[in-house]
Amino acid sequence: MADEFSLSDMNRADPANMTDMMRKHTPVIEAPGNVNSGEPFAVKVKVGGIDGVGHPNVLGHWINWVALYAGDRLLARVEFEPAVSQPQTTLSIALEESTTLRAESFCNMHGVWQATKRIGV
Ligand SMILES: [Fe+2]
Repeated sequence: MADEFSLSDMNRADPANMTDMMRKHTPVIEAPGNVNSGEPFAVKVKVGGIDGVGHPNVLGHWINWVALYAGDRLLARVEFEPAVSQPQTTLSIALEESTTLRAESFCNMHGVWQATKRIGV
């Protein structure tokens, strides 16, 4: 298991070959593939549940936060309380050019995980 994740490097899931470790930690970005310039749209970021594999949500092991980036620019970061908060959030953003959104999630035991989604404008 030690080589399934890293606390010092970004964990990247191979969509074609996901392990349960990847399924429970990799953030999922739900957003339209194409949007109109400058018009706000909803972006949902959630962690856990890929193929039904959920992540624990207890004191001692939970998803501490998610962050959403456009390229290297931080758009938002949301922190969660164990057991009480569910590791998902919906943000409203507006883009003026096509962008690759990148979500990061942080598990206190298993480090940082990421996913990307291309948004056309
Ligand atoms: Fe974890």
